[in-house]
Amino acid sequence: MSSAERADLGRVLCIITGASRGFGRTVALEMSRLVKPGSVLVLAARSGDDLRALQAELAESEAGRAGVKVESVAADVGQTEGLEKVVRTSTEAFSGDMDHLVLVNNAASLGDVSRYAKSFTNMAEVDSYLSLNVSSSLCLTARVLQAFPQHPGLRRTVVNVTSLCALQPFRSWVLYCTGKAAREMMFRVLAEEEPDLRVLNYAPGPLDTAMQVEARSKTADSSIRKSFLDMFAQGQLLTCEASCAKLMKLLLEDNYASGAHVDFYDL
Ligand SMILES: NC(=O)c1ccc[n+]([C@@H]2O[C@H](COP(=O)([O-])OP(=O)(O)OC[C@H]3O[C@@H](n4cnc5c(N)ncnc54)[C@H](OP(=O)(O)O)[C@@H]3O)[C@@H](O)[C@H]2O)c1
Repeated sequence: MSSAERADLGRVLCIITGASRGFGRTVALEMSRLVKPGSVLVLAARSGDDLRALQAELAESEAGRAGVKVESVAADVGQTEGLEKVVRTSTEAFSGDMDHLVLVNNAASLGDVSRYAKSFTNMAEVDSYLSLNVSSSLCLTARVLQAFPQHPGLRRTVVNVTSLCALQPFRSWVLYCTGKAAREMMFRVLAEEEPDLRVLNYAPGPLDTAMQVEARSKTADSSIRKSFLDMFAQGQLLTCEASCAKLMKLLLEDNYASGAHVDFYDL
């Protein structure tokens, strides 16, 4: 694989979950600038109004005027019907001359960080967290790979938005750390099984988003909460744009090892 950076990602069908705000929204905006006319972005999240606002912004942008199309899918990706809706919209939007399929598994939740592991006695609560944060990304990825099988001339890339928490335990973050670790391993297995596929586990670094607000206000463990408060107070949080620029560079260069965990700070 050449390390020379491509000028664009091709004529792409790009599916992004959690595109209504935060990192996913920025990925949609940046992606639109790096794809060829005729490309389609399929944006999924529960907040239909926010997705439609983003869709309108993209339609007015240079990319929109150049012929990049956007489909918004108001769906809960933690539910089977939500996954069906995303795949149906993507299949309808795909045209034969697309040369690159990109799936960005970005949607996630922090879970209840106000308690410690020993308080999680309720299996339904844990199952519900894992259903959105682990099961849904496996099942969406599997459905998308089946809907768009490998064929000559089609590149397929799957991105998992991961975290340092996939590798390192954080006190009072048992759901999030468990979910990120399991989800990342899932994509590592996928990379082993499907050598034609490009699989990237991208850890975007500490981002100035709603999830960070939740982290610094609700974390039970005082030293972890303080580290988030300090990062915020000292201006150490990253903008989604800065982190997304590194993700886009990785995708354009396309020379990461498939299945690798690549952190913002590695680059
Ligand atoms: N923020 C950080 O510091 C940080 C650090 C490392 C990794 N990450 C990871 O980066 C990714 C983006 O995080 P963020 O900070 O941008 O989070 P965020 O601001 O909380 O945004 C989460 C996105 O996921 C969507 N989402 C949540 N539940 C959903 C559901 N059931 N169905 C469909 N969409 C759903 C939300 O949309 P709706 O509410 O409209 O559904 C929203 O668009 C996540 O995977 C996160 O774990 C974040």
